Amino acid sequence: MTQVSVGMPRLRNDPAQAPTLAGRPDVSELVDRFGRVAHDLRISVTEKCSLRCTYCMPESGLPPIAREDLLTPVEIARLVSIGVRQLGIREVRFTGGEPLMRVDLEQIIGLSAEAAPGIDISITTNGVGLEHRIDRLVAAGLTRVNISLDTVDARHFAELTRRDRLDSVFAGIRAAHAAGLAPLKLNAVMMRSTLDDAPDLLAWAIENSCQLRFIEQMPLDADRNWTRDNLVTAAELLGKLGERFELSEIGRLDPSAPAEEWIVDGGPSTVGIIASVTRPFCENCDRTRITAEGTVRSCLFGDNETDLRPLLRGHADDDEIAQWWRGAMWAKQIGHGMDASDFRPPERSMGAIGG
Ligand code: 5AD
Ligand code: SF4
Repeated sequence: MTQVSVGMPRLRNDPAQAPTLAGRPDVSELVDRFGRVAHDLRISVTEKCSLRCTYCMPESGLPPIAREDLLTPVEIARLVSIGVRQLGIREVRFTGGEPLMRVDLEQIIGLSAEAAPGIDISITTNGVGLEHRIDRLVAAGLTRVNISLDTVDARHFAELTRRDRLDSVFAGIRAAHAAGLAPLKLNAVMMRSTLDDAPDLLAWAIENSCQLRFIEQMPLDADRNWTRDNLVTAAELLGKLGERFELSEIGRLDPSAPAEEWIVDGGPSTVGIIASVTRPFCENCDRTRITAEGTVRSCLFGDNETDLRPLLRGHADDDEIAQWWRGAMWAKQIGHGMDASDFRPPERSMGAIGG
């Protein structure tokens, strides 16, 4: 049986010591040794999820994180405040697992919005149950949502997510529109089982005023079934979409955007493709991630983490936490290394890191 874990990351920091900053220029922002600066903060708030997408979760879900190990809304908002005030963070996104699984998500968003007024606060969600909470989330300060939707074929959806909840996702998308969260972005992981559905999904997205982005599947599934040979590449997807649509390439809208864009049938609609595997964008990565347990993860694929939770719960002041965070990002690795012969997927699967 595959060993599933929320991860046994190697922790870099011993709070009794000082962060490792050798060679780092004395700047406030989250710089690394390869010239990148992180402005985009992703915070995972839970490992739980209402779906079980095969490219992410094991059938039985991830082992639960003990409640006392999860960051509280107050702790999360403090990190948001430190990130925005001291470290140059410009955008905050809450992920999971599924962020809606946190009953206190409204409070997380509300306190974060108070801590960092004017900052864009978004969630990446599978949309299940979103309709019941969207108004409260927006009132709390939510400014955008990204909804994950891989197919509009109900049977394929149920097979891929191991749950028959497509109607609830549709309701979530309608509710997000009604709440004024336009333009709505949809993320679709490209899988062989749903490749033939891709043109229908794009047609549906255009009809329903959603901006669709396809993502190459990364080796972040808890079941460890990913193989390069079975990967649906951007090139293959473009071939499939080209059977129905006329696509003309625009490229990246800004250099740090992971998606490359195409105009569909002469416009105005577009479709994006995030070719994380075949056209990696690591050299322009501007992300910094915090796990649900409060560790800084500088790269999706880097198991070296820096634990901020003991600092948050101890007597560390904001400056000290900021300095550990800078140290974590200074140590960020150059890239995912998927093309190296000794590549090994990270300990943590996607549901345990946050997308
Ligand atoms: N590869 C690429 N994207 C993934 N996601 C989850 N697992 C993977 C994977 N293995 C995406 C989901 C969602 C976001 C949270 O991450 O589709 O959009
Ligand atoms: Fe849940 Fe998202 Fe993972 Fe699917 S990809 S199991 S919706 S966390």
